[in-house]
Amino acid sequence: MIQKEQLLEALQTLIEPHFNKSIVELNLVRDVMIKEESVSLSLIVLTEDESYKEQARAAIQQTLANIGVQQVHIRFRLMTEHERSRLEETAHNHKHDAEKKPVQPPIQQPILGQSSTVEFIAVASGKGGVGKSTVTVNLAVALARKGKKVGIIDADIYGFSIPDMMGIEEQPQLVENVILPVEKFGVKVISMGFFVQDNAPVVWRGPMLGKMLRNFFNEVNWGDVEYILLDLPPGTGDVALDVHQLIPQSKEIIVTTPHATAAFVAARAGAMAIQTDHEILGIVENMSYYESKDGNVDYIFGKGGGAKLAEDLHSELLAQIPLGAPDNHISEIDYSPSVYKADSKAGRIYLEVADRVISKLEK
Ligand SMILES: Nc1ncnc2c1ncn2[C@@H]1O[C@H](COP(=O)(O)OP(=O)(O)OP(=O)(O)O)[C@@H](O)[C@H]1O
Ligand SMILES: [Mg+2]
Repeated sequence: MIQKEQLLEALQTLIEPHFNKSIVELNLVRDVMIKEESVSLSLIVLTEDESYKEQARAAIQQTLANIGVQQVHIRFRLMTEHERSRLEETAHNHKHDAEKKPVQPPIQQPILGQSSTVEFIAVASGKGGVGKSTVTVNLAVALARKGKKVGIIDADIYGFSIPDMMGIEEQPQLVENVILPVEKFGVKVISMGFFVQDNAPVVWRGPMLGKMLRNFFNEVNWGDVEYILLDLPPGTGDVALDVHQLIPQSKEIIVTTPHATAAFVAARAGAMAIQTDHEILGIVENMSYYESKDGNVDYIFGKGGGAKLAEDLHSELLAQIPLGAPDNHISEIDYSPSVYKADSKAGRIYLEVADRVISKLEK
């Protein structure tokens, strides 16, 4: 069972915006009751504003979820005039210290909170190597090219590949103990790859994985984002399930290759989405055909898998992406091995997919 000290220590990170101090330091957290799995507490607030309370509730719930508390009951009580003037006084006396301190962000709007408007799109597949990460990266870049504010969470914790694929060499910055994602091609990226030294394998077990994933949501300052794409590991394992549970509102894109058996395997990922009530935005068929320089089209890996899968899942085929590596050269400033240029064939197809996705989500 969790101890009160642990709980307060976790809540220490939440800042009350008026006094710009921790809610714990200001003694705004009261009546903490811990009962097996659940916690109840009172939060003293300076305003009756409902949206503030909602934000505070979400922030507290997220913070406590991080340390394993799933059920939190919060009562709000408005601060009395007396309490307030005493606090103002102490704050005044400490103004000197306060001036030295950098301004802290208000209670951070968690991207998972109820009031969050972020659209999550998980990119899934039944098996490995079909191009999930490639699709994630290129759809994210295409959405950014369309003027959207986009982030990627590389949820493939063991097999992270997004930083390399996008040619990211920097590491995320830590500002005020919050991680800032790395930005490339206008897309904010967070990946396990940023936190692993020298490509050492990640050997964490289940619970740590889930924790890491939660950190990507809660300990990262995403700023203003409209879309977050999640690159899932292949298959229907723990991480995929974790994502489903963590972001019940997430939509899905399923990637398959054109071969009939590939589509059959991909259907499992689709079935999982359906079982967990996640809307499938559509299917992307990758490596659909090879087009030679003189325009001949060759369906190397077969034909029809994507369309069949779309039919089986009562969804639509969003695109068929041809075979072909991006025409990028290592000498270019923004070199990235896996991002197609906007004016290439695949680049144009990804822009169309971005349009479809935008119109589906913004209607
Ligand atoms: N349309 C394409 N044409 C040519 N090569 C491609 C295409 N799409 C992906 N690839 C290549 O295929 C390989 C697998 O792609 P990718 O890593 O995106 O798949 P994945 O489904 O994310 O794999 P994993 O299951 O290992 O995470 C990569 O080397 C990628 O560059
Ligand atoms: Mg991948």
